[in-house]
Amino acid sequence: MKVLVVGSGGREHALVWKISQSPLVDEIYCAGGNAGIEEIAQVIPIDPLDIRTLTEFSKNEGIDFAVVGPEAPLVNGIADEFEKVGIPLFGPSRQASRLEGSKAFAKKFMERHGIPTADFEVFNEFDRAVRYVKNVGAPVVVKADGLASGKGAVVCRTLDDAIRALEAFMIRGVFGESGKRVVIEEFLTGEEASYIVMANGEKYIPLPSSQDHKRLLDGDRGPNTGGMGAYSPTPFVTPDVEERIRREVIEPTLRGLMEDGIHFKGFLYAGLMLTSEGPKVLEFNVRLGDPEAQPILMRLRGDFLSALLEFYKGGIPHLEVDERWAVDVVIASKGYPERPEKGKEIKGLDRVRDLEAVAVFHAGTVRKEGRVYTAGGRVLNVCALGRDLREAKDKAYSAVELIEFEGMHYRRDIGDRALRMTG
Ligand code: AMP
Ligand code: GLY
Repeated sequence: MKVLVVGSGGREHALVWKISQSPLVDEIYCAGGNAGIEEIAQVIPIDPLDIRTLTEFSKNEGIDFAVVGPEAPLVNGIADEFEKVGIPLFGPSRQASRLEGSKAFAKKFMERHGIPTADFEVFNEFDRAVRYVKNVGAPVVVKADGLASGKGAVVCRTLDDAIRALEAFMIRGVFGESGKRVVIEEFLTGEEASYIVMANGEKYIPLPSSQDHKRLLDGDRGPNTGGMGAYSPTPFVTPDVEERIRREVIEPTLRGLMEDGIHFKGFLYAGLMLTSEGPKVLEFNVRLGDPEAQPILMRLRGDFLSALLEFYKGGIPHLEVDERWAVDVVIASKGYPERPEKGKEIKGLDRVRDLEAVAVFHAGTVRKEGRVYTAGGRVLNVCALGRDLREAKDKAYSAVELIEFEGMHYRRDIGDRALRMTG
């Protein structure tokens, strides 16, 4: 088979790595790509957002199956275009992708279908939004309605912070049109978890639970990022909690979509706050999380492509999950997330290549004349399996220490919230 993976980050490297192990694959292509992906896939220089060229390419090349990593092509309708030309693609339609593409849409959907989430209001006018936050007071959460690369949510501890966020989004337009409309939400407390399923209409298969680390610095300080590391499973998602997530969040969401005439096909990601009242949805994503996909895919055993195909066609394949724990540490560039440096040579990749139960997934990297350089904010993911969380963490960090580039930065506490809980 010829398989196409769309996207160029750590999640896509992990997808290509996992899918390319399938005996069904004759050729694997990646639109986007990076220095790691190009070692195992044929990188095609087509922008993941250039849907027309991607569709043309796939038709001409005879692609049999496509999987999409990032949200933007999905929100822009890549699944609809592939469907028109009859190429199977695992990813939701443009309409279904609004669950991620518009926070206002997602919140109203949840309200309509009784899915637990923070109380909220939607605003298009700055003055009204300011009046509202003055009325409800801080802490409060201000979110840009549209896509903002994981940076569009601001937890505001004070009223001043909230007004500043509203100014930035609605007046200064730091996220362009995405932030002209905002959702203002009740501040929730609890432990966060990511729960991702493969969905096809109302059928779904849960993937292992995980926990992301969104803040830049140790101890969950500093600005929000796309994610600085993740581990799987997370002990915060106990069997009881998982049961509640499935009954109270995943199933009513898939049912609600069907009631609204939307057949969701793809990965559905619920970003959850596990509150004292139960799980509440912070956000939906219509794709695998990055970096959550890396530890999750590392724990899946067997032929993932074959499972995806069977599921796509309406079956319910058995997904075998490795009992071991996985920890993924993101190594970022100096200046991330604001203004990441680029073009620094990365050394030590050969030292980690053959380590047992360790995989390095590239994100922002590029190869020039045989050397690998940084090319983005999040540069590498070092992912390791261990019999317990501690072992997985130690292995991942031992490997991280073998890698160097100027200005590299990573969190040293990935998994510590769970270690504190389990002792
Ligand atoms: P989002 O992009 O909506 O997932 O928000 C990004 C991050 O902001 C989340 O991972 C949480 O850490 C935080 N956050 C979002 N919404 C809330 C909320 N209602 N209460 C507390 N924290 C939140
Ligand atoms: N790691 C969070 C996300 O992919 O949105």
